[in-house]
Amino acid sequence: MGYLKENIKSKNLITGGAGFIGSHLIKKLLENGQKVICLDNLKTGSETNFSNWKNHSNFNFIDHDVTKNLNINVDKVWHLASPASPAKYKEDPIYTIKTGVLGTLNMLKLARRNNAQFLFASTSEIYGHSVNFPQKESEITFGNTHSSRACYLESKRIAETLCYEYGRLGVDVKIARIFNTYGPNMLMDDGRVICNFISQSILNKPITIYGNGYQTRSFCYIDDLISGLLLLINSNYNQPMNLGNDQEISILDLANLIKIKTGNKLAFKFLENREDDPKRRCPCLKISKTKLNWQPSTNISEGLDLTIDYFKKRISFQNV
Ligand SMILES: NC(=O)c1ccc[n+]([C@@H]2O[C@H](COP(=O)([O-])OP(=O)(O)OC[C@H]3O[C@@H](n4cnc5c(N)ncnc54)[C@H](O)[C@@H]3O)[C@@H](O)[C@H]2O)c1
Repeated sequence: MGYLKENIKSKNLITGGAGFIGSHLIKKLLENGQKVICLDNLKTGSETNFSNWKNHSNFNFIDHDVTKNLNINVDKVWHLASPASPAKYKEDPIYTIKTGVLGTLNMLKLARRNNAQFLFASTSEIYGHSVNFPQKESEITFGNTHSSRACYLESKRIAETLCYEYGRLGVDVKIARIFNTYGPNMLMDDGRVICNFISQSILNKPITIYGNGYQTRSFCYIDDLISGLLLLINSNYNQPMNLGNDQEISILDLANLIKIKTGNKLAFKFLENREDDPKRRCPCLKISKTKLNWQPSTNISEGLDLTIDYFKKRISFQNV
């Protein structure tokens, strides 16, 4: 199934390419004149995210589940396939674990057979409930194995270990520990906080806040992340690297900012805090700054304007 065109020697395989981050990566690679195979089973991704490229001569789509073996020719594997939003990865924890572990193993095997470079999309969630901030790559606090988030973060942890082991076998592996990233192409019902707040506001519903809203996050705009991923895969740095934005904002301040930008007049609705919701999350970017000369440049206000604009267009398109 899919749109695999015959006789095209594709170079970049993007697993999870129909998702939020993958779709932006594909756009950038195509703009750079590279060949792209987007692989996705459309579990949380959407065909809309690559509809612009469907007929592009350098673009191919394969409808495939990464937990199944794959044999194609590639030069670079960008392994992004995984449910990413807590709401989505908790829906089917066993699926999340299989995707994280078997999917990563299959894609590493593919990279090894092809002598291809491999970039793995890991996550800030593996820092668990850290006590030291900003979070450094070397400081990980272990959580329990039975929390509702464990299916995601533990499979990302073992996937990182698989990456190192394949690195020892000679595969050129890069690991990006991605912190909260946002922007156009996120699904409105994705469940992540920025999507929730913007879609609630645009639909003129009260913004729902879990807990008192004093917990902080740091949000990275998608264009910044993509430039970091491109630099990372082409670098010679083989240890895990944080990529994100180190400007913290409380959830309450974020809600207020979105409320003002969207003109939502309703009072916030406070709900009970969710199990295992971390109090703070903020990356230490020392390594990305020194090794890649990379740091994010989009401030939260600018990034939110672009994202709100996208969500408004999606809603008006759906209402046509
Ligand atoms: N967006 C963030 O803030 C963030 C933060 C940390 C880590 N990450 C990681 O980055 C990657 C991409 O995240 P995203 O935000 O674009 O998520 P997303 O849900 O938008 O995209 C993930 C894509 O993977 C696909 N997918 C899921 N399981 C699959 C499987 N078994 N086989 C094939 N395709 C499958 C989905 O259909 C979807 O298109 C994920 O690995 C995620 O863990 C994202």
